[in-house]
Amino acid sequence: MLMNRNRFIVCSLAVLGALVMALVGLPGGNHSDLNLPVVYGETPCYKPVVPMDDLMDSVDDNFEAISDQLKIKKYSKAMKAAHYVAEFCNVLQFHTSEEVEGAANMKKWKEISISIRDDMMKVAMAIKKKDAAGAKKILKAVEDSCESCHDMRD
Ligand code: HEC
Repeated sequence: MLMNRNRFIVCSLAVLGALVMALVGLPGGNHSDLNLPVVYGETPCYKPVVPMDDLMDSVDDNFEAISDQLKIKKYSKAMKAAHYVAEFCNVLQFHTSEEVEGAANMKKWKEISISIRDDMMKVAMAIKKKDAAGAKKILKAVEDSCESCHDMRD
C-alpha cells in the first residue's frame, strides 16, 4: 500500500513537473528524443537510460535462452528468462528509435511492447506448470509481435 502511495506521489509530481515545463518551456531547448506527453498524453514515471540496441540484445539473448532451457528441461531457468523478456518489454514501451516515426507508429510501438510483456508473463506461467508445448505456442505468437515492431523500421 505504502509503495503504491509513494508511486502515486512520484507520478503526480512528474505530471506536475511536465505541466510546468510545458507552460514555461523546456530548459535547454527542445531537442529531447521524444516528447512523451505529446505522443501519449501522459508523462511516464519511468525514463530509460540505456541505448536501445543494448536493451534489444538482452531481449534477444533471453528470448533465445527460453527455448534452449526448455529443450534441456531446465524449467526454472527458462521461467527466469521469460521473466526477463517480460520486464525488458515493460521497459521497451518507453524507448524509441530514430527509425520509427510518427505518433501512430509510436502508439503501435507501445502497444506491441505491452502485448509482448503480457504474453511473456503467460509463457512464464506455462513454464511454471511445466507446460512446454503451451509455452512454445505463445512464444511463436510473440515472435510475430517482435517482427511487427521490426517491420516499422523499413
Ligand atoms: C517495440 C519495438 C520492438 C520490439 C517489440 C522488438 N524489437 Fe527488436 N529491435 C527493435 C529496434 C528499434 C531494433 C534496432 C536497435 C538498434 O540497433 O538501435 C531492434 C533490434 C533487434 C535485434 C538486432 C538485429 C537487428 O535487426 O537490428 C534483434 C536480434 C532483436 N531486435 C530481437 C527482438 C526479439 C527477439 C523481440 C521479441 C521478443 C524483439 N526484438 C522485439 C525494436 C523492437
